[in-house]
Amino acid sequence: MHTVTVLLDRDFAIGTTDRRLFGAFVEHLGRCVYGGIFEPGHPAADERGFRRDVLELVRELGPTIVRYPGGNFASGYDWEDGVGPVGDRPRRLDLAWLSTEPNAFGTNEFVDWCRAAPVEPMLAVNLGTRGPDAARGLVEYCNHPGGSALSDLRRRHGWEWPHGIKLWCLGNEMDAPWQMGAKTAAEYGRVATEAAKMMKWIDPTVELVACGSSARNMPTFGRWEDVVLEHCFDHVELISLHTYLNNYAGDTAAFLASPDLMDRFIEEVVAIADAVAARRRSAKRIMLSFDEWNVWYRTRRNPEDRTVPGWPVAPAILEEVYTMQDALAFGGAGIALLNHADRVKVACLAQLVNVIAPIMTETGGPAWRQTIFHPFAQISRLGRGRVLRARIDCPTYQASYYDPRGADEQRFPLPAVPYLKLAAVHDDRAGSLTLFALNRSLDEELRLEVTARGFPGVAVDQALQMHDRDLDAANTKEAPERIRPWPLEDVTVAGDRLRTTLAPASWNTIRLTPAP
Ligand code: AHR
Repeated sequence: MHTVTVLLDRDFAIGTTDRRLFGAFVEHLGRCVYGGIFEPGHPAADERGFRRDVLELVRELGPTIVRYPGGNFASGYDWEDGVGPVGDRPRRLDLAWLSTEPNAFGTNEFVDWCRAAPVEPMLAVNLGTRGPDAARGLVEYCNHPGGSALSDLRRRHGWEWPHGIKLWCLGNEMDAPWQMGAKTAAEYGRVATEAAKMMKWIDPTVELVACGSSARNMPTFGRWEDVVLEHCFDHVELISLHTYLNNYAGDTAAFLASPDLMDRFIEEVVAIADAVAARRRSAKRIMLSFDEWNVWYRTRRNPEDRTVPGWPVAPAILEEVYTMQDALAFGGAGIALLNHADRVKVACLAQLVNVIAPIMTETGGPAWRQTIFHPFAQISRLGRGRVLRARIDCPTYQASYYDPRGADEQRFPLPAVPYLKLAAVHDDRAGSLTLFALNRSLDEELRLEVTARGFPGVAVDQALQMHDRDLDAANTKEAPERIRPWPLEDVTVAGDRLRTTLAPASWNTIRLTPAP
C-alpha cells in the first residue's frame, strides 16, 4: 500500500471552470448522426426523427456544448446541401470517411436537436475545400435576423429566429495531410484571418477558434501554433488542441500515465500563445479549446475499421468498445482538463454517439452507456466551480508512452508519474468540494489523506468508485451495466481531514458538503 497526502486550501484556486469545458462532438461520421442521434422510424424517435432514448442518455451524460458537423467531414462540407426541403437535398460523396452523405440532417436540424438536448451548438466552417466566403454565408444564414438573402432563406426554410451561434471553429485539423484542403501554417493563418474578419463583421458577438495542431506528435507542432497565431492573434479568442490516448503497446501503466502528456501539451500551447502575445506587448490571452479528446486506438490504424468499400451511408466505423482501463485513462484526461481551467475554456469529448463515443446504440434497437460515460457524467455534474491547487505528496513510477505517428516509432518518456492523479473542485454556491481521484497503481491500494484548509465542517455527501479486477471488461448490449460506479465505503472525515483507501486501478469521486 502507498500512502499519499494531499493539501488543499480554499483560497488557492487555479481558476474557475467555464461551462463549455464539458462539451462533446457530433460529426457526420459512421453512425453518429444517422442511427445515433437521428433515426426516423426508430420506435423511440420523435416526429423529427430524434431518438428520445439517446436524448435521455445525453441529458444524463451532461454535455454543455456540442461541436458539429466535423471533424474531417467539415473540410469537404457544403453547408448549403444540408438546408431547405429534405427531398431536394443532394447525396454527396464524403471524402473524409469514403461514405455517401444523404444530407437528411443538416444545420437547422442540428440546432433543433441541441435545443431538445439542451446543449449549446458550436459550428465548424469549411476552410478545406471552401473558404472565407462560405464561412461568412453560414454566419449570415444562422445568425442574421433577416432582411438579407441568406437570413431570409433561413426564414423561408422555417427557422424564423436567428440561431445565435456563438462559438465557431475556423476549420478542422488544417495541418493534417489527411485533411481535405490541408494547408501550411502561413496559408491557413491567412485564410483563417480573412474568414474571421468577415464572420465578425456579420456578427461581432461570435467567438472564434483557430486550428492548432491535430496532435502533439505532429512534426509541425509548435511552429504551427506560432505562425498561425502570428497571423490571426487579433481575430480569434481560442486555439484548438486534439488528443486521442492509446494503449497500442499493451502497457497499461504507460496508458494511465499518458494523460500527463495532455497537461504538458496544454502548458506548451499556453507558452506559445503567450509568447506571441509578448512579442506584441499584448495583454490579450488566447484561450484553449481542447475540442477533441478521448481514448481511441482499436479502430484507428486498421483501414477496415475506418472505411467500408462501396460508399455506404452511415457505415458502422470507429465503433470503439471501451473497457475499464479506458475509463481510467479517460478520467485522467478529464482531470488534466480541470487542472487547467484557467486557460482551457472549451473541451469536447470526441464523439457523442457510436463513433468513439460514451453512448452506443443499435440501429432499430436499444442504447446503452459505455464505460467512459461515467467519469464524464461525474465530471460534468460535479466538476463545475473553482478548481483548487493541490499539493500532492505521492510515490511515482516510470513509464514510456508509445504514440505512433504514421509508421514512425514515437516514444515519450514519463520519468516520474505520481500514482495519484487528482482534481479538486469547490462549488462555492453549494459549498461543496469534489475530489476526482485516479489511482494508477495496478496492484497497490493508495491510502489517501487529504487536508482541506478552509473546509472545517464537511461531511461525505457522495462517494463512488469505478474498479474491476478485469481491466478489459466492457459494457455491451447484453450486459450494459457491467462497469459502472459503486459506493466507495470507508471514507472518514474529521474536521478538515479526509481519509480513505483507493483500490488499485480505480476511478473515485468524493463529494463533500457542509455538515448539517
Ligand atoms: O474524431 C474523429 C476524427 O479525428 C475527426 O474527424 C478528426 O478531426 C480527427 O482526426
